[in-house]
Amino acid sequence: MSNHLQNGSKIEQRLQAPHLVAAAADLTHDILDGVPDRLVHSQGVARRAQFLSLTVEPHQARLLVAAAWLHDIGYAPRLRDTGFHPLDGARHLRAIGWPPAICSLVAHHSGARFVARVRKLDRELDAYRFSEDAVSDALTVADQTTGMHGEAMLPEERMREMLERHGPDSANALAHPQREPYLRAAAGRVTRRLDSIGVHTAIAA
Ligand SMILES: [Fe+2]
Repeated sequence: MSNHLQNGSKIEQRLQAPHLVAAAADLTHDILDGVPDRLVHSQGVARRAQFLSLTVEPHQARLLVAAAWLHDIGYAPRLRDTGFHPLDGARHLRAIGWPPAICSLVAHHSGARFVARVRKLDRELDAYRFSEDAVSDALTVADQTTGMHGEAMLPEERMREMLERHGPDSANALAHPQREPYLRAAAGRVTRRLDSIGVHTAIAA
């Protein structure tokens, strides 16, 4: 971990707005240093979340973008514990003192609770509060519309790519019948929020 994030008082200082996003970007670069594809994807998700912050309350925009940076840090081999990246990422963030709201968003991004059930990690994930709201919707949609190389994708293509990548016997595939309706519903809600402010874009649900 970067030295500047190791000192307790400095961590608290940096986790206050307006430093939250910069601290999240720094930490993600540091943790995903050896996992370049995940880092590129995370950069893309953060960029997408910046745009989708139009759909959240202004005071929640930094929270959304910071969580977008951090959402996949649990893929880093050095953070691997349960092997379930949303949980491993959230646990690390909690252990080093990040705000509970960020830990919960990372733990539950993209319908992680459905996959956790298949992996029998739902009780562990329950240690983080899930709330279905504009911020969790926007984070999920940012992730579900960003490919592995940071490119923009429609949710339909992204789900297909994810199922191919994880394989037909994977927990992701087994959870898909329950998870897919949630992902589609989140995309629908975000599309309607954008519509309501006059931004008409192609987030197909
Ligand atoms: Fe992701």
